[in-house]
Amino acid sequence: MSFPSHRPRRLRRSENLRRMTRETHLRVDNLIMPLFIVPGARVENPIGSMPGIAQLSVDRAVEECKQIRDLGIPGVILFGIPDEKDAVGSDAYSDNGIIQRALRALKEAVPGLTLITDVCLCEYTDHGHCGLVKGNDVDNDATLELLVKESLSHVRAGADMVAPSDMMDGRVGAIRRALDQQGFPHIPIMAYAAKFASGFYGPFREAAESTPQFGDRRSYQMDPANGDEAIREVALDIEEGADIVMVKPALPYLDIIRRVKEEFGHPLAAYNVSGEYAMLKAAALNGWLDEERVMLEALTSIKRAGADLILTYFAKDAARILEQGRAT
Ligand code: PBG
Repeated sequence: MSFPSHRPRRLRRSENLRRMTRETHLRVDNLIMPLFIVPGARVENPIGSMPGIAQLSVDRAVEECKQIRDLGIPGVILFGIPDEKDAVGSDAYSDNGIIQRALRALKEAVPGLTLITDVCLCEYTDHGHCGLVKGNDVDNDATLELLVKESLSHVRAGADMVAPSDMMDGRVGAIRRALDQQGFPHIPIMAYAAKFASGFYGPFREAAESTPQFGDRRSYQMDPANGDEAIREVALDIEEGADIVMVKPALPYLDIIRRVKEEFGHPLAAYNVSGEYAMLKAAALNGWLDEERVMLEALTSIKRAGADLILTYFAKDAARILEQGRAT
């Protein structure tokens, strides 16, 4: 059973044959577009390290979400950047916070689009850490209470799903219990389950103005070298009630995506993060890479590795191509 009877090239000879035998298909249904929301009106602040992406005020986000919906993208994930940050991240759980205002406006103006919110404190704290700081560390259990308040406040304002990204231990269970008790047993949780302490978040921190003012996030986000631990993190989040688990970043962690999918068979998301976007964009702008081609190759690879959903700043660009049936 070998050459010359077997010639794998036979099935690569024409586009039709390649189409007929293609194993992985990227679909618009798989995409979630992240958005950065800021206070004010008619604000559109381009993010230098993320060409094509801007911080948007609520009115602009409404327009953007109409386009996103019209492209067939099923959902967005919202990040809020408040005017005032403080030590306890008050705006995160204020019913008049930036995300809560955005949710009410979007629910009304763009029904039918699934609104997911990032639940974390780093965009809202003046020190830029993902929880309450005690001494030189983030206090896990005290932070849980605030994450619960934040989740409930988002859901009351119209969030269809919450996505805790803080990496505190026990937060999925705490949020699940609170949602159930407060009359929201139907609201799903997408847990950033295996979230690594990554240098690829650099451009996001410019976008969210959330760079830690001291230290780093290594005492709560995972060490990039660890795969078995990622499996244990995901197992805990599923046990605590996560409906969707996430691996983040995506491209440098395709092995983790594959292991999680094989081990659990649970709905799985992967976050193609800001730095992954920035590097392809930068190379494309220099004329060093063909943007459309590498974008589709990267997104298809994330899906091939095992992700069902992809959070990506390329969502609109990819949706346009998929709509025209040009994806390979
Ligand atoms: C934390 C959060 C981060 C990202 C999503 N949620 C940043 C961080 O942990 O520093 C990064 C996303 C990206 O880089 O695109 N709220």
